Amino acid sequence: MEKIVVRGGAPLSGSVTVSGMKNAALPILYACVLVGSKCTIENVPDVRDVRMSLDILAEMGAEINRIADETYEIDCTNFNPGISCSEKVKKLRASYYLMGAELGRFGKAKVAFPGGCNFGTRPIDQHIKGFETLGATVTTDCEFITMTTESGTVADDVYFDTITVGGTINIILAAVMAKGNTIIENAAREPHIVDLANFLNSCGARISGAGTDVIKIRGVKSLHGSTYAIIPDMIEAGTYMAAAAATGGCVRIENVIPKHLEAITGKLEDVNVIVEELDDAVIVTGKGLITSTRIKTRPYPGFPTDMHPQMSALLTIAHGTSIITEGVYETRFRYTEELRKMGADIEVKGHTAVISGVDKLHGAKVQAVDLRAGVAMVIAGLVAEGETKIYDIHLIERGYDDIVGKLRALGANIEKVVEEE
Ligand code: EPU
Repeated sequence: MEKIVVRGGAPLSGSVTVSGMKNAALPILYACVLVGSKCTIENVPDVRDVRMSLDILAEMGAEINRIADETYEIDCTNFNPGISCSEKVKKLRASYYLMGAELGRFGKAKVAFPGGCNFGTRPIDQHIKGFETLGATVTTDCEFITMTTESGTVADDVYFDTITVGGTINIILAAVMAKGNTIIENAAREPHIVDLANFLNSCGARISGAGTDVIKIRGVKSLHGSTYAIIPDMIEAGTYMAAAAATGGCVRIENVIPKHLEAITGKLEDVNVIVEELDDAVIVTGKGLITSTRIKTRPYPGFPTDMHPQMSALLTIAHGTSIITEGVYETRFRYTEELRKMGADIEVKGHTAVISGVDKLHGAKVQAVDLRAGVAMVIAGLVAEGETKIYDIHLIERGYDDIVGKLRALGANIEKVVEEE
């Protein structure tokens, strides 16, 4: 069993380079199925969800070559749109992009229900509504979503009742080669939606408005391969920003798009942290005393839900009482129990965590209950007195490229250890 062991107390210092964005890389990899010829994708993060997705694509006939550390050639010419039901498909959230990509290219798909982190129920009704609007007949049973069309998708207007990142991506994938013009209203505006649209446009798609809540897609007959570099991961950047602030350190975070970090930067400045924005870097300096704040997570450009647990970890040592309200998921508070084991004073009331700052945390044995929860334990461990052992770290590795190596280079006392069962 692998665990991360952190000994807290060292302020982080130095510079760290952010990897490509997981949540942009994943849809772009599945979009290669739609493109159907050789694409070269650069700045691909080396994280577990990406590796599992590459395995799924390879199992289904994609030819994949890693031509440099972060660069892959992906050729889906001979992709076989059979039944996607491997254990990997069932474990991953992003495997549901097979639905949009296969429907868009082959006019049909049969994909097992996706997995992913446990934040309560995570319905896909809006994806299904969108696919049906584009002419698909969709049936579901307890295991599969099955979609068929007579001869491919047909463009139409899709309105989402709730803002959904995955739904917006799936409908873009299904509509790029539909006959006619599709308009998606109440679309998600996350930077990774823009990245997907830019990639597909580089392959000959005609998508406009990505990054706003109305996306227009003119159907094209075919796509061609291209070379494309994934944008930097704003959540990985935000995680190092929170870690620098919590330890009272000074860290230069390289390879970022500061605009994407505005909500995170704003909140850190609110709690007495200095953030200096450069062209493609930010320098975060913790001044020691963290003050309290209120946060409500929202879809982009609001404060990202994927930074919720990391900010909680930071606020456990703030002066005063902070409130974090989860505005995206039904629940995302399982991490609070783990932080309590380290001496944090957190109470969950409905969709809100009330965090009364304590002078210090102490080391403990804790679980990574999901990806961002796990990394919140790392941040807590970096500031705690004594040793923190974090278990189930495969969940952290789903989305963080070499987190232990990157933190060690910043002076953290952290290591990955294999423990005898
Ligand atoms: N929702 C519905 N119906 C739908 C789709 C979504 O009710 O058909 C609800 C969800 O239950 C949720 C909300 O809408 O309450 C937002 O869900 P969304 O579809 O936006 O999330 P997702 O596509 O499942 C992606 C990321 C998550 C990130 C969310 C929100 C990937 C692979 N996953 O999930 O990333 O939290 O968007 O930004 O891109 C992570 O990286 O740690 C992570 C969980």
